[in-house]
Amino acid sequence: MTVDAQILRALRNSGSEPVSGADLAAQLGISRAAIWAHIEELRSLGYEINASPHGGYRLRSTPDVLHADDLLALLEPGLLIGRDIRVFQETTSTNDVADKLGRDGVKEGVVVFAESQTKGRGRLGRNWVSSQGKGLWFSVLLRPSVSPQAATQMTIASATALARALKQAAGINCEIKWPNDILVKDRKLCGILTEMTAEVDKINYIILGIGVNVNFTETDFPADLRKIATSLAIETGRKFKRTEVAAVILRELNRDYLRLKSGEFQAVADEWEENCNTIGRNVEISTGHRVVHGRAESLDSEGALLVRTQHGHLERIIGGDVTLRK
Ligand code: BTN
Repeated sequence: MTVDAQILRALRNSGSEPVSGADLAAQLGISRAAIWAHIEELRSLGYEINASPHGGYRLRSTPDVLHADDLLALLEPGLLIGRDIRVFQETTSTNDVADKLGRDGVKEGVVVFAESQTKGRGRLGRNWVSSQGKGLWFSVLLRPSVSPQAATQMTIASATALARALKQAAGINCEIKWPNDILVKDRKLCGILTEMTAEVDKINYIILGIGVNVNFTETDFPADLRKIATSLAIETGRKFKRTEVAAVILRELNRDYLRLKSGEFQAVADEWEENCNTIGRNVEISTGHRVVHGRAESLDSEGALLVRTQHGHLERIIGGDVTLRK
């Protein structure tokens, strides 16, 4: 862990109690002057850190900027997802950056964040609005040893983890619309774009691209999205520190990824179903080349949606756009 991350962790852990420069220096094995230089650097990023000659350092407030070290400081050591965090001020799409890391052979668990994306993309070729500082735009690189057919399990697990994390971080109840839209009162709060590189029987890597609308007000959204999109701030009437929300999400993603790795997909799927607004409903699903009408019955063991058509057949759907019918 970097020096900044260790300092921030120590300051956060001590709450309103000051931490002495001497203790920090001893803990980190560097000089008090070096601690001071790091504190100054953190202040220049907007961290309000009080210093008193006898008491020590105290963290008064943190800025709403994404800072990899601060995020690491908020996470418990040893997590797989989030063991390596990289933050960009601007990218085309964090999925592009994660894809490059995947091609370069970087280990799984790395997470790429951007303050803004110039070409944020959604499912089915749609654009994803990724305004500076208004949300969490990030991608997770994973290398699960499952067949490409089971990749949908990753999407199901991420939606489950996100719904749980947003309940914890903001106290809101989200609904999951198959496969991976996270909605509040029918408005979209987050989206997940799963992309993968695979051979016939083996996944090389998967990228989970996640967008969470955090601090948008209604007018921050383009006019065409105002009725169909929402944010944590709109739903709760308060602003959030994005780093704190991100820490909760990464922790929950890590938990569900480990559940998948240890063969517990059914437990994840059961939790997904509890939060899902699609199962048991009449749906119309456009898969790109055809439209399926029927009743969504359940998920299968690979995460595909099983739909009973009007003719009584059970159709297995792995991707598409769902419209819920009355
Ligand atoms: C959707 O619901 O259509 C999926 C939206 C996914 C958006 C995220 S933002 C971070 C990552 N980078 C992208 O370009 N897209 C995903």
